[in-house]
Amino acid sequence: MSDLTNKRIVLGVSGSIAAYKSPEIVRRLQDLGAEVRVIVTNGGREFVSERSLQTISKNKVHDNLWDKEAELAMGHIELAKWADVIIIAPASANTIAKLCHGRADDLLTTVILATEAKIMIAPAMNQQMFAASAMKDNLELLQKRGMDIIKPGFGEQACGDVGEGRLADPLDIAKQAADLFTSSLLSGKNILITLGGTKESIDPVRFISNHSSGKMGMALAHACIQAGAKTTLIVGSISVDIEKRAEIIHVVSAEDMYKAVMKKINSQDLFISCAAVADFKPKKMSKNKIKKNDSPMTIELIENKDILATVSQLEKKPICIGFAAETENHIENARIKLKKKKCDAIILNDVSKSEIGLNSNDNEVHFITKNKSEIIEKNTKQIIAEKIINKLANYFFKSS
Ligand code: C5P
Repeated sequence: MSDLTNKRIVLGVSGSIAAYKSPEIVRRLQDLGAEVRVIVTNGGREFVSERSLQTISKNKVHDNLWDKEAELAMGHIELAKWADVIIIAPASANTIAKLCHGRADDLLTTVILATEAKIMIAPAMNQQMFAASAMKDNLELLQKRGMDIIKPGFGEQACGDVGEGRLADPLDIAKQAADLFTSSLLSGKNILITLGGTKESIDPVRFISNHSSGKMGMALAHACIQAGAKTTLIVGSISVDIEKRAEIIHVVSAEDMYKAVMKKINSQDLFISCAAVADFKPKKMSKNKIKKNDSPMTIELIENKDILATVSQLEKKPICIGFAAETENHIENARIKLKKKKCDAIILNDVSKSEIGLNSNDNEVHFITKNKSEIIEKNTKQIIAEKIINKLANYFFKSS
């Protein structure tokens, strides 16, 4: 669940057999949303084809400091400025040594000198070379200068040796790059999020539920964690991967969700009620599976407790944020909800459009408080979540 959306990454590929894994690194970075440009050194070119890197990165591979045409398209200084992060993976012993000396005898080392971007180094070499004291000193020096070293793995190497020096896993490299973008916007804050749908049992095998996927709630959880908050999730029925860095409490029914929220609410600074809680449940759950018979079937429903409204009215309450899924008179209905539930803000979804909202990957929402209504325009749920969390942090926690 790491995220590199809108991030620009230069991947430097130097001369190590592990360069054959560099297209995979490009892919993993792209999977997290990054745009990637590749620089290959002369050594790197011996182990991986430029054509593969170009096809996968969807950008021309940069390889020559003296190529006039390439310099006209995107010169080395421009490339150095373009990058948010430069990752050298694999970083060969030679490239690492050149960085220590501030050499600028090829495109990669020149770009490194010319950049203000964060630099990450993923060494990959024979275990004996990696263990050499010169290598240890070099890496320590680069670390002191502010570069991040991505630890190599331990195991069997291309040369047959066994030891430390294998290129880190491409997914781990991408995740470590994503970790650079975590903020402290909400550090020290405790955040409780409900998400997913609830299931209201009719009998031991049947239930009433809804189409909620939990995508928006999980995106919010990710954004809260990236912003440094201690995040607890009360999770109903979902169809997304769980954010593993959060504390997770699984629930089934609205009643379970209510109890789980009440147990945790005292220690929270912010409560985001993103779950699609069933408003009604069967008055009685049949102990045994209900059998068909010839007469029409009716289920008597009773109202579930409103979790958000209950929390919003606690004497010692956190900042409370609700979601409103509306199909008509959106803003008006959301404002009525804000007032009725006494919460601090409502995030309004227009669920009449199939391309946004419930179960889709995108969303467009309105952020509504007593005095304000701002649109957060259509984007992926992850970007929408980050924007919501930024707004919440600025609106409710800025001075604290
Ligand atoms: O009233 P409505 O269901 O439209 O309100 C939606 C908001 O209220 C959402 O934030 C939802 O999580 C919350 N809610 C709740 N408990 C309920 C019903 C809705 O917390 N029983």
